[in-house]
Formats: sequence, C-alpha cells, structure tokens
Amino acid sequence: MKSLLWTVLVVTLVYLGFGAGTVSADEPPKSPPVSEFAPAADLAKQVEYYLNRLEKAVASNEDYTDLADRVPKDASTIAVIGMALGLHDTDNEYKLAAPGMIAAAEKLSNAKDYATAKAGVESLQKATKANPGDSTKIEWQKVASLEELMLAVPGINTNLKRNARLRRPKSDGPRAAGHAAVLAAIAEASLYHSADTEKPELAKEWFKYCVQMREGAAQVNAAANKGDKEAAMAGMKNLAQSCDDCHEVFHREALEKEDAR
Ligand code: HEC
Repeated sequence: MKSLLWTVLVVTLVYLGFGAGTVSADEPPKSPPVSEFAPAADLAKQVEYYLNRLEKAVASNEDYTDLADRVPKDASTIAVIGMALGLHDTDNEYKLAAPGMIAAAEKLSNAKDYATAKAGVESLQKATKANPGDSTKIEWQKVASLEELMLAVPGINTNLKRNARLRRPKSDGPRAAGHAAVLAAIAEASLYHSADTEKPELAKEWFKYCVQMREGAAQVNAAANKGDKEAAMAGMKNLAQSCDDCHEVFHREALEKEDAR
C-alpha cells in the first residue's frame, strides 16, 4: 500500500514537473477576465462604429480610393473586438457570431481592390448578425496582423485623446470608453504576436509592454465610464507611457510620433 502511494506521488510530481517545463518562456501571461479591461457593452458599441466606418469606405469606388488605407486597420480591429466578445465573461449579442466575425474580418483585411473589399464588408456585416448556435470555445490566440493592429493604434489613440478630456461627459464619456476598450483589447491580442516583432527574442519585454498598455487603457475606460475626468487624465498618462516604453525597445521610429499620420 505504502509503495503504491509512493508511486502515485512520484508519478504526480514528475507529471507536474514535466507540465511546468513545457510552459515555454515565450508564453503570454494569462488574461484576466475581459470585463476587467474592456466591458462587453463598450466593445459591442465599437462593432457598430467600425462597421459604419467600413461601410463608408466601400460606399463607392471613389470613397474606397480615398479610404482604402483604413480597411485593413479597421478590419483587423474588428477581428480583435470579435475575439474579445467571443470569449468575454459577460454575455453579449456577438458571442455566438464571434468565430464567423473573426474569419470574415481577417479575410477583409487582405482585400486589395474595391470589389473584394465591398464584398468583404458585406460578408462581415452578415457574419455579425449570424447566430450559428454552436458555442465554439474561443481562447486568446493570434488574430489579424500585428502590423495592421499597430498601425490602427495611433488613430484610435488620437480619437481617444479628444474624448478623454470629457468636456461633454454625456457624449464624450461613452466615446472615450469605447476607444479605450478597443485599445485594451488590441493590447491583449498583441501579446500573442511576440514572435512577429523585430525582436522575437525579447518576448518577455513585449509581454510587459502589452500588459502596461492594456492596464493604462483599462484605467481610462473605467474613468470614462464613471465620468471621472481626473482619473481619465491619469490613465491617459499611463497609457502614453506604455506607448513610449514599448517603442523605445521595439519601434524607435515611432518615438515622439503618438498621433496618426
Ligand atoms: C507592445 C508594444 C507597443 C505598444 C504598447 C505601442 N506600440 Fe506603437 N508600435 C509598435 C510597433 C512594433 C510598431 C511598428 C509596427 C509596424 O510597422 O510593423 C508601432 C508603430 C507605431 C506607430 C507608427 C505607425 C506608422 O505609421 O509608422 C505609431 C504612431 C504608434 N505605434 C503609436 C502608438 C501609440 C499612440 C501607442 C499607445 C497608445 C502605441 N503605439 C503603443 C509597438 C507598440
């Protein structure tokens, strides 16, 4: 009996040790519940916001010529929002549609001409309304391209800066909360792209800055939802610090370039 217990103990220890050993150093830290940094209601509103922007970008051939740059950025952003809503700890209207949304958004982000982009926006719209009824379990994983996500960040940040001052708290508050929630979701999703940076060997540093950005954005989101101007400004400061700290190591070209081109 005693030896059986020993066997169980040794097998368990070896198993645990092996398990711990297989967690690679390049594995991102586990995500907190999404509600802690990006409330489902704020993200869901941003789905409408981005669909609306995409619709405008493909309204006509001329519109597309002017706004084509925006399509891969907005589509990649929606893919991340879809993922965050799909695995969200708060139930939401896009939860079941999420896998289809992510696929349609990723496809759209590769569109290179008007006809493909127009058809892609239409399939994305359809996908957001689909309710396939199976609860495919979604987990955080690599979604969209890191480059498009990083190029989307400055534009969102510029809008956020405008709204985060909460000059008209009733309208600015929800807008700031929406943009901040999206930045937090992009920061979380970026964790899974450490291998795509110019310095994949610095994965741990990358994780640190992604989490720093997520926390700064979450702080702004919470403050905006409360209409707390001072807390929003404090959050903006932390968020901006995360941009600088990450660029210092991973993209020096972007230092001093906080706004969209
Ligand atoms: C975790 C690291 C990281 C964080 C945090 C981060 N960035 Fe970046 N940023 C990058 C990388 C990497 C690129 C280069 C993307 C590429 O071109 O492939 C980049 C590119 C940029 C660019 C240049 C885009 C262009 O047009 O060339 C701007 C501007 C920028 N980021 C702004 C921001 C702002 C504003 C924030 C904070 C709200 C931020 N970034 C947070 C890593 C980061």
